[in-house]
Amino acid sequence: MERIPLLIPDMPRADDLIGLLREIDESRWYTNFGPLAKRFEAQLAGRFQPRTPVSVVSVCNCTLALELLLAARRLPADSTVLVPALTFVATGTAIKRAGHRLLVADVDPQRWTLTPEIARTAAAAHRIACVIPVTTLGCPVDAEQWDAFSAETGIPVIIDAAGAFGNQAAGRNIAVAFSLHATKTMGMGEGGFAVSGNAEWIERVRCLSNFGIDPGDFKVHQAGTNAKLSEYHAAVGIAALARWPERATLRSTLAADYRRRLEAKCAGIRFQQRPGDGAYAAFCVLLPASADPALVGSRLSAAGIETRRWYYPPLNGHPAFADSLVAGSLQATADISGRMLGLPFHLDLNPIQIDRIAQELAQILNET
Ligand SMILES: Cc1ncc(COP(=O)(O)O)c(C=O)c1O
Repeated sequence: MERIPLLIPDMPRADDLIGLLREIDESRWYTNFGPLAKRFEAQLAGRFQPRTPVSVVSVCNCTLALELLLAARRLPADSTVLVPALTFVATGTAIKRAGHRLLVADVDPQRWTLTPEIARTAAAAHRIACVIPVTTLGCPVDAEQWDAFSAETGIPVIIDAAGAFGNQAAGRNIAVAFSLHATKTMGMGEGGFAVSGNAEWIERVRCLSNFGIDPGDFKVHQAGTNAKLSEYHAAVGIAALARWPERATLRSTLAADYRRRLEAKCAGIRFQQRPGDGAYAAFCVLLPASADPALVGSRLSAAGIETRRWYYPPLNGHPAFADSLVAGSLQATADISGRMLGLPFHLDLNPIQIDRIAQELAQILNET
Protein backbone atom coordinates (compact mmCIF):
# COMPACT_ATOMS: atom_id res chain seq x y z
CA MET A 1 0.00 0.00 0.00
CA GLU A 2 1.35 3.42 -0.96
CA ARG A 3 1.88 5.57 2.16
CA ILE A 4 0.82 9.20 1.98
CA PRO A 5 3.19 11.30 4.11
CA LEU A 6 1.90 14.21 6.17
CA LEU A 7 4.46 16.68 4.88
CA ILE A 8 7.07 16.84 2.14
CA PRO A 9 9.16 20.02 2.29
CA ASP A 10 9.24 22.07 -0.91
CA MET A 11 12.72 23.52 -1.09
CA PRO A 12 14.86 25.10 -3.83
CA ARG A 13 16.99 22.59 -5.74
CA ALA A 14 20.79 22.54 -5.97
CA ASP A 15 20.64 24.06 -9.47
CA ASP A 16 18.74 27.06 -8.07
CA LEU A 17 21.55 27.64 -5.56
CA ILE A 18 24.71 27.19 -7.53
CA GLY A 19 25.06 30.81 -8.71
CA LEU A 20 24.52 32.11 -5.19
CA LEU A 21 26.99 29.61 -3.70
CA ARG A 22 29.59 30.84 -6.22
CA GLU A 23 28.95 34.38 -4.99
CA ILE A 24 29.88 33.15 -1.49
CA ASP A 25 33.06 31.57 -2.88
CA GLU A 26 33.90 34.96 -4.42
CA SER A 27 33.08 37.16 -1.43
CA ARG A 28 34.47 34.68 1.16
CA TRP A 29 31.92 36.16 3.54
CA TYR A 30 30.10 33.35 5.32
CA THR A 31 28.02 34.92 8.09
CA ASN A 32 27.74 38.10 10.27
CA PHE A 33 25.36 40.21 8.17
CA GLY A 34 26.96 39.36 4.84
CA PRO A 35 25.91 40.57 1.36
CA LEU A 36 23.44 37.74 0.73
CA ALA A 37 21.75 38.18 4.13
CA LYS A 38 21.43 41.92 3.37
CA ARG A 39 20.02 41.23 -0.10
CA PHE A 40 17.56 38.72 1.35
CA GLU A 41 16.39 41.23 3.98
CA ALA A 42 15.91 43.95 1.32
CA GLN A 43 13.88 41.55 -0.84
CA LEU A 44 11.74 40.55 2.15
CA ALA A 45 11.17 44.19 3.13
CA GLY A 46 10.08 44.91 -0.46
CA ARG A 47 7.27 42.38 -0.07
CA PHE A 48 5.64 44.51 2.66
CA GLN A 49 6.12 47.87 0.97
CA PRO A 50 4.64 50.22 -0.17
CA ARG A 51 1.74 49.33 2.15
CA THR A 52 3.91 49.77 5.24
CA PRO A 53 7.50 51.10 5.25
CA VAL A 54 9.31 48.42 7.24
CA SER A 55 12.64 47.20 8.58
CA VAL A 56 13.57 43.53 8.46
CA VAL A 57 16.12 41.47 10.37
CA SER A 58 16.83 37.90 9.32
CA VAL A 59 17.55 35.34 12.05
CA CYS A 60 18.22 31.62 12.25
CA ASN A 61 14.68 30.66 13.32
CA CYS A 62 11.35 32.12 14.37
CA THR A 63 11.61 31.01 18.00
CA LEU A 64 14.68 33.23 18.43
CA ALA A 65 12.97 36.05 16.52
CA LEU A 66 10.17 35.95 19.10
CA GLU A 67 12.55 35.68 22.06
CA LEU A 68 14.67 38.60 20.85
CA LEU A 69 11.69 40.80 19.96
CA LEU A 70 10.55 40.30 23.56
CA ALA A 71 14.03 40.84 25.00
CA ALA A 72 14.41 44.04 22.97
CA ARG A 73 11.43 45.55 24.83
CA ARG A 74 13.41 45.27 28.11
CA LEU A 75 10.30 44.37 30.11
CA PRO A 76 10.77 43.81 33.86
CA ALA A 77 11.63 40.17 34.71
CA ASP A 78 8.59 37.92 35.17
CA SER A 79 6.26 40.21 33.22
CA THR A 80 2.95 38.75 32.06
CA VAL A 81 2.71 37.99 28.34
CA LEU A 82 -0.69 37.22 26.85
CA VAL A 83 -0.76 34.41 24.30
CA PRO A 84 -3.44 32.14 22.84
CA ALA A 85 -3.56 28.69 24.46
CA LEU A 86 -3.97 27.27 20.95
CA THR A 87 -0.47 27.47 19.50
CA PHE A 88 2.74 25.55 18.91
CA VAL A 89 5.01 25.18 21.94
CA ALA A 90 7.64 27.55 20.47
CA THR A 91 5.50 30.58 21.34
CA GLY A 92 5.61 29.55 25.01
CA THR A 93 9.30 28.62 24.84
CA ALA A 94 10.22 32.10 23.60
CA ILE A 95 8.28 33.78 26.42
CA LYS A 96 9.83 31.58 29.13
CA ARG A 97 13.33 31.97 27.79
CA ALA A 98 12.89 35.74 27.71
CA GLY A 99 12.19 35.47 31.45
CA HIS A 100 8.44 36.08 31.49
CA ARG A 101 5.29 34.30 32.50
CA LEU A 102 2.47 33.17 30.26
CA LEU A 103 -1.12 34.28 30.47
CA VAL A 104 -3.13 32.06 28.12
CA ALA A 105 -6.42 33.10 26.56
CA ASP A 106 -9.01 31.64 24.23
CA VAL A 107 -9.29 32.08 20.45
CA ASP A 108 -12.02 33.07 18.05
CA PRO A 109 -14.04 29.89 17.32
CA GLN A 110 -14.13 30.55 13.54
CA ARG A 111 -10.62 31.79 12.72
CA TRP A 112 -8.91 30.05 15.67
CA THR A 113 -6.84 33.16 16.45
CA LEU A 114 -6.55 35.51 19.43
CA THR A 115 -8.43 38.75 18.72
CA PRO A 116 -7.97 42.30 20.06
CA GLU A 117 -11.39 41.91 21.76
CA ILE A 118 -10.20 38.85 23.71
CA ALA A 119 -6.99 40.72 24.60
CA ARG A 120 -8.95 43.79 25.79
CA THR A 121 -11.03 41.59 28.10
CA ALA A 122 -7.88 39.92 29.44
CA ALA A 123 -6.19 43.32 29.91
CA ALA A 124 -9.10 44.50 32.04
CA ALA A 125 -8.43 41.70 34.53
CA HIS A 126 -4.62 41.30 34.32
CA ARG A 127 -1.59 43.57 34.05
CA ILE A 128 -0.29 42.58 30.63
CA ALA A 129 3.19 43.65 29.47
CA CYS A 130 3.01 42.26 25.92
CA VAL A 131 0.59 40.36 23.65
CA ILE A 132 1.63 37.66 21.18
CA PRO A 133 -1.24 36.79 18.83
CA VAL A 134 -0.57 33.73 16.65
CA THR A 135 -1.51 33.23 12.98
CA THR A 136 -2.94 29.79 13.74
CA LEU A 137 -2.07 27.36 10.94
CA GLY A 138 -1.22 30.28 8.63
CA CYS A 139 -4.47 32.24 9.12
CA PRO A 140 -3.48 35.95 9.19
CA VAL A 141 -4.53 38.36 11.92
CA ASP A 142 -5.49 41.99 11.28
CA ALA A 143 -2.27 44.02 11.59
CA GLU A 144 -4.14 47.35 11.54
CA GLN A 145 -6.42 46.26 14.38
CA TRP A 146 -3.45 45.11 16.42
CA ASP A 147 -1.63 48.40 15.71
CA ALA A 148 -4.75 50.20 16.98
CA PHE A 149 -4.87 47.95 20.07
CA SER A 150 -1.22 48.69 20.83
CA ALA A 151 -1.65 52.45 20.34
CA GLU A 152 -4.75 52.51 22.54
CA THR A 153 -3.41 50.36 25.41
CA GLY A 154 0.33 51.08 25.20
CA ILE A 155 0.92 47.31 25.22
CA PRO A 156 3.52 46.09 22.68
CA VAL A 157 2.29 43.44 20.23
CA ILE A 158 4.39 40.75 18.55
CA ILE A 159 2.57 38.61 16.01
CA ASP A 160 3.83 35.04 15.89
CA ALA A 161 3.30 34.51 12.16
CA ALA A 162 5.56 31.46 12.03
CA GLY A 163 3.31 29.68 9.53
CA ALA A 164 1.92 32.68 7.66
CA PHE A 165 4.61 33.78 5.23
CA GLY A 166 2.77 35.26 2.24
CA ASN A 167 -0.46 35.75 4.21
CA GLN A 168 0.39 38.07 7.11
CA ALA A 169 0.77 41.86 6.68
CA ALA A 170 3.28 43.91 8.69
CA GLY A 171 2.30 46.71 11.06
CA ARG A 172 3.43 50.26 11.82
CA ASN A 173 4.42 49.80 15.43
CA ILE A 174 3.80 46.12 16.09
CA ALA A 175 6.35 43.47 15.09
CA VAL A 176 5.78 40.26 13.15
CA ALA A 177 7.98 37.14 13.31
CA PHE A 178 8.00 34.56 10.51
CA SER A 179 9.45 31.04 10.30
CA LEU A 180 11.20 29.80 7.18
CA HIS A 181 11.65 26.26 8.53
CA ALA A 182 11.66 23.53 5.88
CA THR A 183 8.08 22.56 6.72
CA LYS A 184 6.68 26.06 6.20
CA THR A 185 5.17 27.56 3.03
CA MET A 186 8.53 29.05 2.05
CA GLY A 187 11.24 26.90 3.56
CA MET A 188 14.99 27.44 3.76
CA GLY A 189 15.92 24.60 6.16
CA GLU A 190 16.11 26.69 9.31
CA GLY A 191 15.48 30.42 9.22
CA GLY A 192 13.19 33.25 10.11
CA PHE A 193 12.86 37.01 10.20
CA ALA A 194 11.23 39.83 12.09
CA VAL A 195 9.58 42.82 10.43
CA SER A 196 8.17 46.06 11.78
CA GLY A 197 7.54 49.70 10.90
CA ASN A 198 9.38 50.39 14.16
CA ALA A 199 13.00 50.44 12.88
CA GLU A 200 14.50 50.92 16.34
CA TRP A 201 12.89 47.71 17.63
CA ILE A 202 14.24 45.75 14.64
CA GLU A 203 17.75 47.21 15.05
CA ARG A 204 17.73 46.19 18.73
CA VAL A 205 16.88 42.63 17.65
CA ARG A 206 19.77 42.75 15.16
CA CYS A 207 22.13 43.80 17.96
CA LEU A 208 20.79 41.07 20.30
CA SER A 209 21.16 38.48 17.50
CA ASN A 210 24.89 39.30 17.51
CA PHE A 211 25.46 38.58 21.23
CA GLY A 212 24.20 42.06 22.11
CA ILE A 213 27.31 43.77 20.73
CA ASP A 214 26.36 47.42 20.17
CA PRO A 215 27.49 48.47 16.67
CA GLY A 216 28.23 51.99 18.04
CA ASP A 217 30.70 51.30 20.86
CA PHE A 218 31.21 47.51 20.43
CA LYS A 219 30.16 46.95 24.04
CA VAL A 220 27.40 44.66 25.31
CA HIS A 221 24.81 46.69 27.20
CA GLN A 222 22.22 43.90 27.16
CA ALA A 223 23.27 40.27 26.81
CA GLY A 224 22.01 38.76 23.59
CA THR A 225 22.61 35.47 21.84
CA ASN A 226 23.84 34.24 18.48
CA ALA A 227 20.86 34.13 16.12
CA LYS A 228 22.48 35.31 12.90
CA LEU A 229 21.65 33.87 9.50
CA SER A 230 24.60 32.35 7.62
CA GLU A 231 25.27 33.32 4.02
CA TYR A 232 24.49 29.73 2.99
CA HIS A 233 21.02 29.96 4.49
CA ALA A 234 20.51 33.39 2.95
CA ALA A 235 21.35 31.83 -0.45
CA VAL A 236 18.57 29.28 0.05
CA GLY A 237 16.23 32.07 1.13
CA ILE A 238 16.95 34.16 -1.99
CA ALA A 239 16.42 31.11 -4.21
CA ALA A 240 13.17 30.30 -2.36
CA LEU A 241 11.87 33.85 -2.83
CA ALA A 242 12.54 33.67 -6.58
CA ARG A 243 10.17 30.72 -6.92
CA TRP A 244 7.69 31.88 -4.27
CA PRO A 245 4.88 33.38 -6.44
CA GLU A 246 4.47 30.13 -8.38
CA ARG A 247 4.66 27.93 -5.26
CA ALA A 248 2.18 30.14 -3.37
CA THR A 249 -0.40 29.80 -6.16
CA LEU A 250 0.05 26.02 -6.22
CA ARG A 251 -0.50 25.88 -2.44
CA SER A 252 -3.70 27.91 -2.43
CA THR A 253 -5.14 26.03 -5.45
CA LEU A 254 -4.34 22.70 -3.80
CA ALA A 255 -5.99 23.72 -0.51
CA ALA A 256 -9.18 24.83 -2.29
CA ASP A 257 -9.39 21.61 -4.31
CA TYR A 258 -8.68 19.50 -1.20
CA ARG A 259 -11.47 21.20 0.71
CA ARG A 260 -13.97 20.64 -2.13
CA ARG A 261 -13.11 16.96 -2.34
CA LEU A 262 -13.38 16.46 1.43
CA GLU A 263 -16.67 18.35 1.66
CA ALA A 264 -18.09 16.16 -1.10
CA LYS A 265 -17.35 12.95 0.81
CA CYS A 266 -17.14 13.71 4.56
CA ALA A 267 -20.32 15.14 6.04
CA GLY A 268 -19.87 16.50 9.55
CA ILE A 269 -16.30 17.81 9.28
CA ARG A 270 -15.65 21.55 9.69
CA PHE A 271 -12.87 23.88 8.58
CA GLN A 272 -11.05 26.89 9.94
CA GLN A 273 -12.33 30.15 8.43
CA ARG A 274 -9.23 31.44 6.65
CA PRO A 275 -8.67 33.48 3.46
CA GLY A 276 -9.26 31.30 0.41
CA ASP A 277 -6.38 32.86 -1.52
CA GLY A 278 -3.78 32.21 1.21
CA ALA A 279 -0.76 29.92 0.93
CA TYR A 280 -0.83 27.29 3.67
CA ALA A 281 1.61 24.69 4.98
CA ALA A 282 -0.93 22.52 6.81
CA PHE A 283 -4.44 21.25 6.24
CA CYS A 284 -6.53 20.54 9.32
CA VAL A 285 -10.13 19.50 9.77
CA LEU A 286 -12.39 19.61 12.81
CA LEU A 287 -13.84 16.16 13.29
CA PRO A 288 -17.40 15.70 14.53
CA ALA A 289 -17.58 15.98 18.34
CA SER A 290 -18.42 12.26 18.53
CA ALA A 291 -15.13 11.21 16.83
CA ASP A 292 -11.88 10.66 18.73
CA PRO A 293 -8.98 12.24 16.75
CA ALA A 294 -6.48 9.76 18.22
CA LEU A 295 -8.57 6.82 17.06
CA VAL A 296 -9.28 8.35 13.63
CA GLY A 297 -5.55 9.11 13.30
CA SER A 298 -4.55 5.54 14.08
CA ARG A 299 -7.15 4.13 11.67
CA LEU A 300 -5.88 6.46 8.93
CA SER A 301 -2.32 5.43 9.73
CA ALA A 302 -3.31 1.77 9.33
CA ALA A 303 -4.67 2.77 5.89
CA GLY A 304 -1.28 4.32 5.01
CA ILE A 305 -2.25 7.95 5.65
CA GLU A 306 -0.14 10.01 8.05
CA THR A 307 -1.84 12.57 10.28
CA ARG A 308 -0.79 14.90 13.12
CA ARG A 309 -2.64 16.44 16.03
CA TRP A 310 -1.24 19.96 15.62
CA TYR A 311 -1.34 22.21 18.70
CA TYR A 312 -2.37 19.32 20.94
CA PRO A 313 -2.48 19.65 23.88
CA PRO A 314 -2.99 23.42 24.21
CA LEU A 315 0.01 25.32 25.60
CA ASN A 316 -0.93 25.04 29.28
CA GLY A 317 -1.37 21.26 28.88
CA HIS A 318 2.44 20.90 28.57
CA PRO A 319 4.25 20.41 31.90
CA ALA A 320 6.67 23.29 31.17
CA PHE A 321 3.74 25.69 30.79
CA ALA A 322 1.42 24.25 33.45
CA ASP A 323 2.09 27.32 35.63
CA SER A 324 0.51 29.64 33.02
CA LEU A 325 -2.09 32.09 34.25
CA VAL A 326 -5.43 31.67 32.50
CA ALA A 327 -7.57 34.56 31.22
CA GLY A 328 -11.22 33.48 31.25
CA SER A 329 -12.69 30.40 29.63
CA LEU A 330 -10.69 28.32 27.14
CA GLN A 331 -13.82 26.75 25.66
CA ALA A 332 -13.09 27.35 21.96
CA THR A 333 -9.49 26.20 22.42
CA ALA A 334 -10.58 22.97 24.13
CA ASP A 335 -13.13 22.30 21.42
CA ILE A 336 -10.76 22.98 18.49
CA SER A 337 -7.72 21.27 19.98
CA GLY A 338 -9.79 18.25 21.04
CA ARG A 339 -11.27 17.77 17.55
CA MET A 340 -8.57 18.94 15.16
CA LEU A 341 -6.70 16.52 12.90
CA GLY A 342 -3.99 17.51 10.42
CA LEU A 343 -4.19 15.60 7.14
CA PRO A 344 -1.39 15.14 4.57
CA PHE A 345 -0.68 18.42 2.78
CA HIS A 346 2.20 19.06 0.39
CA LEU A 347 2.74 19.98 -3.22
CA ASP A 348 3.44 16.36 -4.25
CA LEU A 349 -0.18 15.38 -3.41
CA ASN A 350 -2.32 14.45 -6.40
CA PRO A 351 -6.13 14.32 -6.76
CA ILE A 352 -6.18 10.51 -6.59
CA GLN A 353 -4.41 10.61 -3.20
CA ILE A 354 -6.74 13.36 -1.94
CA ASP A 355 -9.78 11.30 -2.95
CA ARG A 356 -8.27 8.29 -1.17
CA ILE A 357 -7.82 10.36 2.02
CA ALA A 358 -11.42 11.66 1.75
CA GLN A 359 -12.75 8.14 1.13
CA GLU A 360 -10.90 6.58 4.08
CA LEU A 361 -11.85 9.43 6.42
CA ALA A 362 -15.54 9.20 5.38
CA GLN A 363 -15.55 5.46 6.01
CA ILE A 364 -13.92 5.79 9.45
CA LEU A 365 -16.34 8.56 10.46
CA ASN A 366 -19.29 6.44 9.35
CA GLU A 367 -18.10 3.58 11.51
CA THR A 368 -17.35 5.61 14.67
C1 LIG B 1 3.12 29.10 15.93
C2 LIG B 1 4.59 28.82 15.82
N1 LIG B 1 5.47 29.62 16.43
C3 LIG B 1 6.79 29.42 16.33
C4 LIG B 1 7.30 28.36 15.60
C5 LIG B 1 8.79 28.14 15.59
O1 LIG B 1 9.38 28.39 14.35
P1 LIG B 1 10.90 27.95 14.11
O2 LIG B 1 10.88 26.49 13.88
O3 LIG B 1 11.34 28.72 12.91
O4 LIG B 1 11.66 28.32 15.34
C6 LIG B 1 6.44 27.49 14.95
C7 LIG B 1 6.99 26.37 14.18
O5 LIG B 1 6.29 25.54 13.64
C8 LIG B 1 5.04 27.72 15.05
O6 LIG B 1 4.15 26.91 14.46
